[in-house]
Amino acid sequence: MDYNVAVVGATGNVGREILSILSERLFPAKDVYALASRRSNGVEVSFGDATLKCKDLATFDFSKVDFCLMSAGGAVSKEWSPKIAAKGCVVIDNSSAWRYDQDVPLIVPEVNADAVAGYTKKNIIANPNCSTMQLVVALKPLHDRATVKRVVVATYQSVSGAGKDAMDELWSQTKGKYVPGQEVAPKKFAKEIAFNCIPQVDVFMEDGYTREEWKMMAETKKILDPKIKVAATCVRVPVFVSHCESVNIEFEKPITADEAREILRESPGCLVIDKHEPGGYITPMEATGEDATYISRIREDATVENGLAMWIVSDNLRKGAALNAVQIAELMINRKLLRKAS
Ligand SMILES: NC(=O)c1ccc[n+]([C@@H]2O[C@H](COP(=O)([O-])OP(=O)(O)OC[C@H]3O[C@@H](n4cnc5c(N)ncnc54)[C@H](OP(=O)(O)O)[C@@H]3O)[C@@H](O)[C@H]2O)c1
Repeated sequence: MDYNVAVVGATGNVGREILSILSERLFPAKDVYALASRRSNGVEVSFGDATLKCKDLATFDFSKVDFCLMSAGGAVSKEWSPKIAAKGCVVIDNSSAWRYDQDVPLIVPEVNADAVAGYTKKNIIANPNCSTMQLVVALKPLHDRATVKRVVVATYQSVSGAGKDAMDELWSQTKGKYVPGQEVAPKKFAKEIAFNCIPQVDVFMEDGYTREEWKMMAETKKILDPKIKVAATCVRVPVFVSHCESVNIEFEKPITADEAREILRESPGCLVIDKHEPGGYITPMEATGEDATYISRIREDATVENGLAMWIVSDNLRKGAALNAVQIAELMINRKLLRKAS
Protein backbone atom coordinates (compact mmCIF):
# COMPACT_ATOMS: atom_id res chain seq x y z
CA MET A 1 0.00 0.00 0.00
CA ASP A 2 1.39 3.41 -0.94
CA TYR A 3 0.73 6.64 0.89
CA ASN A 4 0.18 10.24 -0.13
CA VAL A 5 2.62 12.55 1.63
CA ALA A 6 2.68 16.34 1.97
CA VAL A 7 5.87 18.14 3.02
CA VAL A 8 5.08 21.56 4.49
CA GLY A 9 8.07 23.92 4.58
CA ALA A 10 9.48 22.23 1.46
CA THR A 11 11.69 25.21 0.55
CA GLY A 12 13.33 25.25 4.01
CA ASN A 13 16.37 23.47 5.42
CA VAL A 14 14.40 20.67 7.05
CA GLY A 15 11.75 20.37 4.31
CA ARG A 16 14.37 19.89 1.58
CA GLU A 17 16.09 17.25 3.70
CA ILE A 18 12.76 15.46 4.28
CA LEU A 19 12.21 15.25 0.51
CA SER A 20 15.66 13.84 -0.06
CA ILE A 21 15.31 11.28 2.77
CA LEU A 22 11.86 10.12 1.53
CA SER A 23 13.46 9.47 -1.83
CA GLU A 24 16.67 7.86 -0.47
CA ARG A 25 14.78 5.46 1.79
CA LEU A 26 12.28 4.53 -0.94
CA PHE A 27 9.42 5.59 1.31
CA PRO A 28 6.23 3.92 0.03
CA ALA A 29 4.83 7.16 -1.36
CA LYS A 30 2.21 7.37 -4.08
CA ASP A 31 2.09 11.14 -4.49
CA VAL A 32 4.39 13.61 -2.75
CA TYR A 33 3.28 17.26 -2.47
CA ALA A 34 5.72 20.09 -1.72
CA LEU A 35 4.04 22.93 0.17
CA ALA A 36 5.29 26.25 1.49
CA SER A 37 3.97 29.80 1.83
CA ARG A 38 2.26 31.68 -0.98
CA ARG A 39 5.64 33.40 -1.61
CA SER A 40 7.01 30.09 -2.91
CA ASN A 41 4.12 29.13 -5.18
CA GLY A 42 5.68 27.46 -8.25
CA VAL A 43 9.21 27.29 -6.77
CA GLU A 44 10.89 24.02 -7.78
CA VAL A 45 12.39 21.64 -5.22
CA SER A 46 14.15 18.32 -5.77
CA PHE A 47 12.63 14.97 -4.90
CA GLY A 48 15.20 12.35 -5.90
CA ASP A 49 15.66 12.73 -9.64
CA ALA A 50 12.30 14.47 -9.99
CA THR A 51 11.37 18.10 -9.46
CA LEU A 52 8.25 19.18 -7.56
CA LYS A 53 6.56 22.57 -7.88
CA CYS A 54 5.64 24.09 -4.52
CA LYS A 55 2.03 24.79 -3.76
CA ASP A 56 0.53 27.19 -1.24
CA LEU A 57 -0.26 25.52 2.11
CA ALA A 58 -3.28 27.80 2.62
CA THR A 59 -5.19 26.53 -0.43
CA PHE A 60 -4.15 22.87 -0.42
CA ASP A 61 -6.70 20.07 0.06
CA PHE A 62 -5.36 17.63 2.69
CA SER A 63 -8.27 15.18 2.49
CA LYS A 64 -6.31 13.09 -0.03
CA VAL A 65 -3.12 12.99 2.10
CA ASP A 66 -2.08 10.34 4.68
CA PHE A 67 1.02 11.97 6.22
CA CYS A 68 1.85 15.66 6.53
CA LEU A 69 5.51 16.18 7.46
CA MET A 70 5.45 19.71 8.79
CA SER A 71 8.47 22.00 9.23
CA ALA A 72 7.30 25.58 8.84
CA GLY A 73 7.76 26.91 12.39
CA GLY A 74 5.59 26.97 15.50
CA ALA A 75 3.08 29.65 14.50
CA VAL A 76 2.23 27.94 11.20
CA SER A 77 1.94 24.59 12.94
CA LYS A 78 -0.32 25.95 15.70
CA GLU A 79 -2.69 27.32 13.09
CA TRP A 80 -2.58 24.54 10.49
CA SER A 81 -1.85 21.21 12.21
CA PRO A 82 -5.33 20.86 13.84
CA LYS A 83 -7.04 21.74 10.54
CA ILE A 84 -4.92 19.24 8.61
CA ALA A 85 -5.39 16.55 11.31
CA ALA A 86 -9.16 17.05 11.18
CA LYS A 87 -9.03 15.96 7.52
CA GLY A 88 -7.78 12.53 8.65
CA CYS A 89 -4.15 13.25 7.77
CA VAL A 90 -1.51 12.43 10.42
CA VAL A 91 0.69 15.47 11.12
CA ILE A 92 4.32 14.85 12.14
CA ASP A 93 5.52 18.25 13.28
CA ASN A 94 9.09 19.52 13.63
CA SER A 95 8.33 22.71 15.54
CA SER A 96 7.99 23.07 19.32
CA ALA A 97 4.26 23.91 19.03
CA TRP A 98 2.94 20.52 20.23
CA ARG A 99 5.88 18.88 22.02
CA TYR A 100 4.65 19.57 25.54
CA ASP A 101 0.96 18.81 24.88
CA GLN A 102 -0.09 15.77 26.96
CA ASP A 103 -2.24 14.52 24.07
CA VAL A 104 0.61 14.61 21.55
CA PRO A 105 3.31 11.91 21.63
CA LEU A 106 6.91 13.14 21.35
CA ILE A 107 8.72 10.35 19.53
CA VAL A 108 12.24 9.14 18.83
CA PRO A 109 11.73 5.66 17.33
CA GLU A 110 14.93 4.21 18.87
CA VAL A 111 13.86 5.42 22.32
CA ASN A 112 10.08 5.44 22.87
CA ALA A 113 8.44 3.88 19.80
CA ASP A 114 5.52 2.44 21.80
CA ALA A 115 4.30 5.93 22.76
CA VAL A 116 3.40 6.60 19.11
CA ALA A 117 0.07 4.80 19.60
CA GLY A 118 -1.11 7.88 21.56
CA TYR A 119 -1.30 9.90 18.33
CA THR A 120 -5.04 9.20 17.93
CA LYS A 121 -6.06 11.89 20.45
CA LYS A 122 -5.09 14.74 18.13
CA ASN A 123 -3.76 13.02 14.99
CA ILE A 124 -0.54 14.96 15.64
CA ILE A 125 2.91 13.60 16.56
CA ALA A 126 5.77 15.87 17.64
CA ASN A 127 9.40 15.54 16.61
CA PRO A 128 11.81 16.56 19.40
CA ASN A 129 14.26 19.43 19.30
CA CYS A 130 17.48 18.57 17.44
CA SER A 131 19.71 18.89 20.54
CA THR A 132 17.43 16.64 22.59
CA MET A 133 17.22 14.09 19.79
CA GLN A 134 20.90 13.11 19.68
CA LEU A 135 21.16 13.24 23.47
CA VAL A 136 18.31 10.77 24.11
CA VAL A 137 19.47 8.36 21.38
CA ALA A 138 22.77 7.99 23.28
CA LEU A 139 21.27 8.11 26.79
CA LYS A 140 18.55 5.48 26.28
CA PRO A 141 20.72 2.31 26.20
CA LEU A 142 22.84 3.59 29.09
CA HIS A 143 19.71 4.45 31.07
CA ASP A 144 18.41 0.89 30.54
CA ARG A 145 21.66 -0.47 31.96
CA ALA A 146 22.59 1.88 34.81
CA THR A 147 19.70 4.42 35.27
CA VAL A 148 20.59 8.01 34.46
CA LYS A 149 20.15 10.38 37.43
CA ARG A 150 21.56 13.66 36.17
CA VAL A 151 22.94 15.07 32.93
CA VAL A 152 25.06 18.20 32.48
CA VAL A 153 25.35 19.12 28.82
CA ALA A 154 26.98 21.93 26.84
CA THR A 155 25.96 22.14 23.18
CA TYR A 156 27.89 23.44 20.17
CA GLN A 157 25.02 24.03 17.72
CA SER A 158 25.35 24.72 14.01
CA VAL A 159 23.63 27.67 12.35
CA SER A 160 21.42 25.45 10.15
CA GLY A 161 19.41 24.76 13.31
CA ALA A 162 18.14 28.35 13.02
CA GLY A 163 16.95 27.99 9.40
CA LYS A 164 18.20 28.93 5.96
CA ASP A 165 18.47 32.69 6.74
CA ALA A 166 20.89 31.87 9.56
CA MET A 167 23.12 29.88 7.19
CA ASP A 168 23.14 32.86 4.80
CA GLU A 169 24.15 35.14 7.69
CA LEU A 170 27.19 32.99 8.59
CA TRP A 171 28.19 32.81 4.93
CA SER A 172 27.87 36.54 4.24
CA GLN A 173 29.52 37.58 7.52
CA THR A 174 32.44 35.24 6.80
CA LYS A 175 32.90 36.72 3.31
CA GLY A 176 32.48 40.23 4.78
CA LYS A 177 35.56 39.66 6.97
CA TYR A 178 37.73 39.44 3.87
CA VAL A 179 36.06 41.90 1.46
CA PRO A 180 36.30 45.54 2.60
CA GLY A 181 32.91 47.30 2.60
CA GLN A 182 30.93 44.03 2.68
CA GLU A 183 30.67 43.64 6.45
CA VAL A 184 27.28 42.25 7.50
CA ALA A 185 25.64 43.25 10.79
CA PRO A 186 23.97 40.56 12.96
CA LYS A 187 20.30 40.06 12.13
CA LYS A 188 19.30 36.47 12.85
CA PHE A 189 21.64 36.17 15.85
CA ALA A 190 22.16 38.62 18.74
CA LYS A 191 25.89 38.95 17.98
CA GLU A 192 28.15 38.26 15.03
CA ILE A 193 28.33 34.50 14.39
CA ALA A 194 31.32 34.38 12.00
CA PHE A 195 34.50 33.46 13.93
CA ASN A 196 32.52 33.64 17.17
CA CYS A 197 30.49 31.58 19.69
CA ILE A 198 27.15 32.82 21.06
CA PRO A 199 25.92 31.43 24.41
CA GLN A 200 22.27 31.97 23.49
CA VAL A 201 20.01 29.66 21.47
CA ASP A 202 16.36 30.81 21.41
CA VAL A 203 14.96 33.40 23.84
CA PHE A 204 15.78 33.96 27.53
CA MET A 205 13.39 32.70 30.19
CA GLU A 206 12.74 34.22 33.62
CA ASP A 207 15.18 31.92 35.45
CA GLY A 208 18.12 32.93 33.20
CA TYR A 209 18.11 29.76 31.11
CA THR A 210 17.28 30.01 27.40
CA ARG A 211 14.26 28.27 25.89
CA GLU A 212 16.53 25.83 24.04
CA GLU A 213 18.07 24.82 27.38
CA TRP A 214 14.60 24.41 28.90
CA LYS A 215 13.51 22.31 25.88
CA MET A 216 16.39 19.87 26.42
CA MET A 217 15.35 19.40 30.04
CA ALA A 218 11.57 19.11 29.41
CA GLU A 219 11.85 16.89 26.32
CA THR A 220 14.36 14.46 27.87
CA LYS A 221 11.92 13.97 30.75
CA LYS A 222 8.94 13.41 28.43
CA ILE A 223 10.74 11.01 26.09
CA LEU A 224 13.00 9.08 28.44
CA ASP A 225 12.16 9.45 32.13
CA PRO A 226 10.61 12.29 34.17
CA LYS A 227 13.08 11.57 37.01
CA ILE A 228 16.17 12.54 34.98
CA LYS A 229 17.61 15.96 35.87
CA VAL A 230 19.16 17.96 33.02
CA ALA A 231 21.27 21.15 33.22
CA ALA A 232 22.04 22.50 29.74
CA THR A 233 24.10 25.35 28.30
CA CYS A 234 23.32 25.88 24.62
CA VAL A 235 25.85 27.64 22.42
CA ARG A 236 25.65 28.59 18.73
CA VAL A 237 28.94 28.07 16.86
CA PRO A 238 30.07 29.04 13.33
CA VAL A 239 29.48 25.60 11.83
CA PHE A 240 26.96 25.13 9.00
CA VAL A 241 25.55 21.67 9.80
CA SER A 242 25.65 19.17 12.73
CA HIS A 243 25.41 19.78 16.44
CA CYS A 244 27.96 18.62 19.05
CA GLU A 245 27.38 18.02 22.74
CA SER A 246 29.80 17.63 25.62
CA VAL A 247 27.87 15.53 28.13
CA ASN A 248 28.50 14.49 31.75
CA ILE A 249 26.15 11.79 33.03
CA GLU A 250 25.62 10.60 36.60
CA PHE A 251 24.12 7.12 37.02
CA GLU A 252 22.43 5.32 39.90
CA LYS A 253 24.41 2.12 39.26
CA PRO A 254 28.10 1.67 38.43
CA ILE A 255 29.07 1.63 34.75
CA THR A 256 32.57 1.82 33.27
CA ALA A 257 33.64 3.61 30.10
CA ASP A 258 34.41 0.23 28.49
CA GLU A 259 30.92 -1.07 29.33
CA ALA A 260 29.31 2.09 27.95
CA ARG A 261 31.34 1.78 24.74
CA GLU A 262 30.21 -1.82 24.27
CA ILE A 263 26.55 -1.00 24.98
CA LEU A 264 26.54 1.99 22.60
CA ARG A 265 28.23 -0.08 19.87
CA GLU A 266 25.21 -2.41 19.89
CA SER A 267 22.53 0.28 20.19
CA PRO A 268 20.18 1.37 17.39
CA GLY A 269 21.08 4.69 15.79
CA CYS A 270 24.45 4.93 17.61
CA LEU A 271 27.94 4.73 16.12
CA VAL A 272 30.98 4.78 18.41
CA ILE A 273 34.19 6.36 17.08
CA ASP A 274 36.50 6.44 20.06
CA LYS A 275 40.21 5.96 19.55
CA HIS A 276 42.59 7.56 22.01
CA GLU A 277 44.75 9.18 19.35
CA PRO A 278 44.75 12.46 17.40
CA GLY A 279 41.63 12.50 15.19
CA GLY A 280 40.18 9.36 16.78
CA TYR A 281 36.83 11.10 17.35
CA ILE A 282 34.04 12.57 15.25
CA THR A 283 33.59 16.21 14.23
CA PRO A 284 30.55 17.96 12.71
CA MET A 285 32.04 17.87 9.22
CA GLU A 286 32.17 14.07 9.27
CA ALA A 287 28.68 13.67 10.75
CA THR A 288 27.03 15.90 8.12
CA GLY A 289 24.90 13.97 5.63
CA GLU A 290 24.97 10.88 7.87
CA ASP A 291 22.11 9.27 9.78
CA ALA A 292 23.90 8.09 12.92
CA THR A 293 24.32 9.66 16.31
CA TYR A 294 28.09 9.50 16.80
CA ILE A 295 29.65 9.05 20.22
CA SER A 296 33.33 9.74 20.97
CA ARG A 297 35.58 10.57 23.92
CA ILE A 298 33.79 8.16 26.30
CA ARG A 299 35.53 8.30 29.68
CA GLU A 300 34.86 8.00 33.39
CA ASP A 301 34.04 11.19 35.30
CA ALA A 302 35.75 10.70 38.64
CA THR A 303 34.25 13.89 40.13
CA VAL A 304 30.97 12.06 40.87
CA GLU A 305 29.99 8.53 41.85
CA ASN A 306 29.09 6.46 38.74
CA GLY A 307 29.89 9.23 36.27
CA LEU A 308 30.70 9.19 32.56
CA ALA A 309 31.67 11.94 30.13
CA MET A 310 31.26 11.80 26.35
CA TRP A 311 31.07 13.79 23.08
CA ILE A 312 27.94 13.32 20.95
CA VAL A 313 27.65 14.58 17.35
CA SER A 314 24.79 14.30 14.85
CA ASP A 315 23.47 15.96 11.70
CA ASN A 316 20.77 18.27 13.07
CA LEU A 317 18.92 18.41 9.75
CA ARG A 318 18.80 14.60 9.40
CA LYS A 319 18.46 12.70 12.72
CA GLY A 320 17.81 16.03 14.46
CA ALA A 321 14.75 16.71 12.29
CA ALA A 322 13.99 15.24 8.85
CA LEU A 323 15.17 11.65 9.30
CA ASN A 324 13.37 11.24 12.62
CA ALA A 325 10.11 12.57 11.09
CA VAL A 326 10.36 10.04 8.24
CA GLN A 327 11.24 7.26 10.71
CA ILE A 328 8.07 8.06 12.68
CA ALA A 329 5.97 7.69 9.50
CA GLU A 330 7.74 4.38 8.76
CA LEU A 331 7.10 3.22 12.32
CA MET A 332 3.37 3.91 11.92
CA ILE A 333 3.27 2.00 8.65
CA ASN A 334 5.20 -0.97 10.09
CA ARG A 335 2.89 -1.14 13.12
CA LYS A 336 -0.19 -0.72 10.89
CA LEU A 337 -1.33 2.25 12.96
CA LEU A 338 -2.63 4.47 10.21
CA ARG A 339 -6.40 4.79 10.26
CA LYS A 340 -6.71 5.80 6.63
CA ALA A 341 -4.55 5.05 3.58
CA SER A 342 -5.35 7.06 0.52
N1 LIG B 1 16.91 23.20 11.32
C1 LIG B 1 16.92 22.31 12.30
O1 LIG B 1 17.96 21.75 12.69
C2 LIG B 1 15.66 21.95 12.98
C3 LIG B 1 15.67 20.88 13.81
C4 LIG B 1 14.51 20.53 14.47
C5 LIG B 1 13.38 21.27 14.24
N2 LIG B 1 13.39 22.34 13.39
C6 LIG B 1 12.15 23.09 13.19
O2 LIG B 1 11.67 22.88 11.87
C7 LIG B 1 11.00 24.06 11.42
C8 LIG B 1 11.61 24.53 10.11
O3 LIG B 1 12.99 24.79 10.28
P1 LIG B 1 13.94 25.12 9.04
O4 LIG B 1 15.29 25.14 9.61
O5 LIG B 1 13.64 24.24 7.88
O6 LIG B 1 13.46 26.63 8.67
P2 LIG B 1 13.67 27.44 7.29
O7 LIG B 1 14.85 26.94 6.57
O8 LIG B 1 13.63 28.87 7.69
O9 LIG B 1 12.36 27.10 6.43
C9 LIG B 1 11.06 27.50 6.85
C10 LIG B 1 10.03 26.88 5.92
O10 LIG B 1 8.72 27.22 6.42
C11 LIG B 1 7.96 27.76 5.33
N3 LIG B 1 6.97 28.72 5.81
C12 LIG B 1 7.18 29.84 6.51
N4 LIG B 1 6.01 30.50 6.71
C13 LIG B 1 5.05 29.75 6.13
C14 LIG B 1 3.63 29.88 5.99
N5 LIG B 1 2.97 30.93 6.50
N6 LIG B 1 2.95 28.93 5.31
C15 LIG B 1 3.60 27.88 4.76
N7 LIG B 1 4.95 27.70 4.86
C16 LIG B 1 5.66 28.62 5.54
C17 LIG B 1 8.98 28.43 4.45
O11 LIG B 1 8.42 28.64 3.18
P3 LIG B 1 8.82 29.95 2.29
O12 LIG B 1 10.15 29.62 1.67
O13 LIG B 1 7.70 30.01 1.33
O14 LIG B 1 8.88 31.10 3.24
C18 LIG B 1 10.09 27.40 4.47
O15 LIG B 1 9.80 26.36 3.57
C19 LIG B 1 11.09 25.05 12.57
O16 LIG B 1 9.95 24.94 13.37
C20 LIG B 1 12.30 24.58 13.32
O17 LIG B 1 12.28 24.97 14.68
C21 LIG B 1 14.50 22.69 12.75
